[in-house]
Amino acid sequence: MPATAIVGTQWGDEGKGKVVDFLARDADIVVRSQGGNNAGHTVAVDEEVFKLYHLPCGVLHPEKISIIGSGMAVNPVKLLEEIDGLDARGIKCANLVISHLTHLIMPYHMILDGLEEKRRTAGDARGQIGTTKRGIGPVFADKMARSGFRICDLADPETFRERVRYSCEEKNVLLTGLYGVEPVDADTIVDEYLAAGQRLLPYVGDAVNKLLQGLEDDKRVLFEGAQGTLLDIEYGLSYPFLTSAPPVTSGMCLGTGLAPNKIDRVYGVVKAYISRVGEGPFPSELLGDEATRLRDRGNEYGTATGRPRRVGWLDLVLLRYSATINGLTDIVLTKVDVLDEMPEIQVAVAYELDGKRVTSLPSDPVLLPELKPVYETLPGWLINTSDLTTGDLLPDPLQDYINFISGMVKVPISLLGVGTRRRQMVEL
Ligand code: IMP
Repeated sequence: MPATAIVGTQWGDEGKGKVVDFLARDADIVVRSQGGNNAGHTVAVDEEVFKLYHLPCGVLHPEKISIIGSGMAVNPVKLLEEIDGLDARGIKCANLVISHLTHLIMPYHMILDGLEEKRRTAGDARGQIGTTKRGIGPVFADKMARSGFRICDLADPETFRERVRYSCEEKNVLLTGLYGVEPVDADTIVDEYLAAGQRLLPYVGDAVNKLLQGLEDDKRVLFEGAQGTLLDIEYGLSYPFLTSAPPVTSGMCLGTGLAPNKIDRVYGVVKAYISRVGEGPFPSELLGDEATRLRDRGNEYGTATGRPRRVGWLDLVLLRYSATINGLTDIVLTKVDVLDEMPEIQVAVAYELDGKRVTSLPSDPVLLPELKPVYETLPGWLINTSDLTTGDLLPDPLQDYINFISGMVKVPISLLGVGTRRRQMVEL
């Protein structure tokens, strides 16, 4: 049985959590493949709101298997808090499997993430990235430098202690020398992580095998994307304003061990407008009152950090790029209700660059900040969509908006999100 992927097509915060929760109804296994607790997925179940950071949204369906794949990095202390928080609300993560290859976010990764950001503001011409300060850049840098720690390392306390001491020697040179802050204490870290490990190790196992076995047994697998394509470390293009892991479909294979030909359906989650947290080019960005209205109406404040998100009009040039990179077979258009009161809706269909109209991204990413959006204006639907339950009752202007997007991107829109609640999804 092939697998289905759900990917963010923009700069994250497209409303993937709710889409995963909806599509997880038909899945047996839900997998997260990359990133860490920089992600924040909000899911409203009846009157309850759940905010998940490391855990796949599949855990809200406790009978299903949830997998944290090897491409993720976890903060064991924070992950336990998440598990315990759900437990206190009656949700047991009994079917959670954490890949033994998953990397550990160490306390010094978070400290360095914050200090590196500060240093960039102080002197680096590149300026700040606007990271979530969860240690993501430093943990993936250590992973690639082969000096990181995997969760399976917690099963061997002596070697773990020895290696953390060694690592801290190096990190403390940076902390005290370059940054002039207090050193970290290796033994304190080890004691805290081993204690967390004792409780987490029962969840740790061979996630690749679990997944392959699942597919062999005809289980339905759902990949839960985190962040968005335009933050991808390679294909997000606006380097360095990116995250350090791959949110694209191919990253899901890398981060779980599943072969690419096992994924046959890729849902791209597209917010009906667009947002970005952190720095970096954003051609269709809105500013001033217009931005404030859209931000407040869409509640565009970071789940993980509470930061106000930058907001703008939907950008179809970026979306076409995302559709190609991810091999989208379907689009899920979310937060449609946020635009309900707008008499007119703008959509970026091209850019102006050096006085010329271009309909695709320039091959030289250095030109990204120069792009001026060219908009098409479409009439708003001006009705409350949040009670819609079927696709037959869509107002004409909304149907036109949908047709316009799918026509330009050449991918069908098969689901609409019209509110925060689980039931507020419309199948087309
Ligand atoms: P990092 O992943 O914390 O290193 O942050 C790098 C960039 O990715 C920053 O611009 C963050 O705001 C952004 N980012 C990271 N995770 C998310 C997410 O889940 N949603 C939206 N933006 C994110």
